[in-house]
Amino acid sequence: MTTLWHGRFETDPDAAMFALNASLPFDRRMAEQDVRGSLAWAAALKDAGVLTPEEHSRIAEGLQAVLAEFRAGKFPFTPEDEDIHTAVERRLGELVGPLAGKLHTGRSRNDQVATDFRLWLLDALPNLQSAIRDLQAALLERAEAALTPTPPPPLPLSQGERGRGEAVRPGGGGEVLMPGYTHLQRAQPVLLSHWFLSHFWPLQRDRERLADLRPRLAVLPLGCGALAGTPYAIDRAALAAALGFDAPAPNSMDAVADRDFAAEFLFAAALTGVHLSKLAEQVILYTSAEFGFFTLDDAFGTGSSLMPQKKNPDPFELARGKAGRLLGYLTGLLTTLKGLPSTYDKDLQEDKEPVFAAFDTLMALLPVLAGAIRTLTAHPDRMESALDDFMLATDLADYLVGRGIPFREAHALTGQAVRRALEAGVPLGTLSLSTYRAIHPVFDESVYQVFDPRASVARRKAVGGTAPEAVEVQIQNAKGKI
Ligand code: ARG
Repeated sequence: MTTLWHGRFETDPDAAMFALNASLPFDRRMAEQDVRGSLAWAAALKDAGVLTPEEHSRIAEGLQAVLAEFRAGKFPFTPEDEDIHTAVERRLGELVGPLAGKLHTGRSRNDQVATDFRLWLLDALPNLQSAIRDLQAALLERAEAALTPTPPPPLPLSQGERGRGEAVRPGGGGEVLMPGYTHLQRAQPVLLSHWFLSHFWPLQRDRERLADLRPRLAVLPLGCGALAGTPYAIDRAALAAALGFDAPAPNSMDAVADRDFAAEFLFAAALTGVHLSKLAEQVILYTSAEFGFFTLDDAFGTGSSLMPQKKNPDPFELARGKAGRLLGYLTGLLTTLKGLPSTYDKDLQEDKEPVFAAFDTLMALLPVLAGAIRTLTAHPDRMESALDDFMLATDLADYLVGRGIPFREAHALTGQAVRRALEAGVPLGTLSLSTYRAIHPVFDESVYQVFDPRASVARRKAVGGTAPEAVEVQIQNAKGKI
């Protein structure tokens, strides 16, 4: 067996050791980036006078042929290929002869792999960002539709629960209201539109976090050699620009060790996973018969092998479940990094699989969730019948505040009214005026106007609130983001 490093070894590597050591099964995914890096390195060697223009063009042609083989799926891997870097160099040798041996001058796989990996992530990020953006768009579409509900197109009765948009509300038009919860206890009425948008903004931060990674990701390790730098006259700034990086890494020892970008990416992915999981948890609850706020479209549910009536929200449960593995990828890599003594250590080969897996996990989830959100049927009647007068207790306290009573006292007085209603087993808005006046004489007939959830929502019109006019502003703001 001929490895890149066979010179000082008397015997071949043990087969099981070779298999353990090899990274080709996963780093072949960076084939394209590896060749691009080598093309740029070959040009830098020419500029440094290490390769003649003629040698450079033969190597570059050979690398282009290798690239074409990868793109056509025709690259001939061999069992001796230890990793993608070795495979490319071996194949280049078959195509251009011993001249291929000049390509690795002044370069190490240590600066090479770090470069490939960064290039791969730079290429991958826009795809992930646009998948997140599309889920945001789905939430935004639903938020807009819930603000000004339009009747769904007439459908045959058997498909009555399928729909795009909000089902017609029995009481007529207007924005759709739903209970907002804290501690999963009914808290205050909010607009359904506001709820959809409450899941838009975390994803916006996720997308911004991925963009924020770039200044630390687009720093070029190439030209740092194994750890000490390269002795050839390489213009690293030009090399960085040629590969689409912002700048060359400032310290060769740090450059070959730095995997912060991978850890940051995994944090961003894990947090996105957490956000998807939280959205999923709510949809799972809200599609249950107990809530009945939404019906999942058939295309996004799954059945039971035993219970014929079931429609299970599997994509949302998978989103909730996969958040666990996304967190695991992050803690796994951080744990790998924490004890490394110097520059490059082979432990660093453990960096790529979690990043690829996190990327793949999110790319599999996001489009499905976007589809499921777009096709959820909302049931405004169910949402609004889950509102009760107690959810307006804060508004009742505010009513007293409006009559000059300090909020803390108003809170306590309202608490008395709540207790009386609970004791009598009646809605808060049906206590008699004499009961209210016994609590405080400032109450009068107008107290009954408090018990209108639509009015409650409409009062919350400060920026970020759930009033229709504030949500309208929020929607315009959200549109500007995507
Ligand atoms: N396959 C290796 C990795 O993924 C490439 C770098 C190998 N460097 C070394 N000094 N053995 O990290």
